[in-house]
Amino acid sequence: MDPFEEREVRDTAVLCRLDLNVPLDFGEVADDARLEAVLPTIRSLVARGARVVLCSHLGRPQGRVDEELRMGPVADRLGSLLDMTVRAVPCTVGEEAAAAVAELEAGQVLLLENLRFHAGETAHDPAFADALAALGDSFVLDAFGVCHRDHASVVGLAGRLPTTVGPLIRAELSAFARVLNDPDRPFVAVLGGAKVSDKIPVIESLLGRVDALLVGGAMANTFLTARGQDMGASLVEEDLVEAAGGLIAKAREADIPLHLPLDLVVTDDFDHPAPSPSVADVRPGAMAVDIGTATCAAYAEVIAGARTVVWNGPMGVFEKPPWDDGTRAVAEAICSSDAYSVIGGGDSAAAIRRAGLAGKVSHLSTGGGASLQLLEGTPLPGLQAAGVAVSSDQ
Ligand code: 3PG
Repeated sequence: MDPFEEREVRDTAVLCRLDLNVPLDFGEVADDARLEAVLPTIRSLVARGARVVLCSHLGRPQGRVDEELRMGPVADRLGSLLDMTVRAVPCTVGEEAAAAVAELEAGQVLLLENLRFHAGETAHDPAFADALAALGDSFVLDAFGVCHRDHASVVGLAGRLPTTVGPLIRAELSAFARVLNDPDRPFVAVLGGAKVSDKIPVIESLLGRVDALLVGGAMANTFLTARGQDMGASLVEEDLVEAAGGLIAKAREADIPLHLPLDLVVTDDFDHPAPSPSVADVRPGAMAVDIGTATCAAYAEVIAGARTVVWNGPMGVFEKPPWDDGTRAVAEAICSSDAYSVIGGGDSAAAIRRAGLAGKVSHLSTGGGASLQLLEGTPLPGLQAAGVAVSSDQ
């Protein structure tokens, strides 16, 4: 039996750290995915008669109150999805929060104010962790997307309260364990996004695991520069060109195909997205904004032959159609393949949902940085604190 389900929680205050860091649009939740992912956790606690005290961060308010980042809209949306009242409390810790928790009855839910309104959260201040711990009799960690952060509510509470991890983290770990420990082969990784700097450790680690690596997004520009291509005015991380060259050489030595774009969509006018033919060379002054049609076809062919696919990061400026074509092509290729697929990172997951393909992915992760860190093989502080191991616990 799962320790989360097994714990007796009736009439006790269960402090539950979730990742409710959702995009807001004019004060309303713009994407429910992270909320839907934790509904089973909350429903289970409610059904077992817990007094449920939810907490999360929202955005990066740097230790100050930011009116735009209050949890109220999240509580409202969560309440609609759960079909019950989720009361938003306008404070995170202290007397007012404690009074709200004391008033909670069995099966009721409240949501504390944004954890990151307090500098002690990201600083992992012991006094802030103590103040949070005072609000619960036990702790449930189910914030997969933030498990790579050494923050008070992620790491500090595990040592202060009896702790279990929730069903979302179990499901995430089981999916990542499958691709990390025993992938069906060929195993193909698709990496995109703006920055190589975010991805160097994960590429290094994946080169020892995958059978092919497909690179797109602005990070591909740095690799293409390392290979001697002139990228015009494209975004290139000049200080990482050498490191990108080193990864190309490492892949060659390991005999792992590292695919870079064969052609690109380029523009002279970044503010006015418009269709344009794919080109092999970037003209002076132009910038690459998407992978081209030949690249889409080549990447789709590699993906079609895969039995395991991991994807993190868009292939182009996908928030500006038609520069989302490459990202959509990769999404469609993954979803029409028979491969076991794990998609991480907010942008890739959003692209999958936007294409209406969410139901066709084996596992749509709620984690961006956390999923990359898992793929890197670097321990996640939140999981360590909660006593969970990715490989041995499945
Ligand atoms: C995410 O959006 O990836 C998580 O909520 C973590 O947010 P952070 O990068 O601001 O810590």
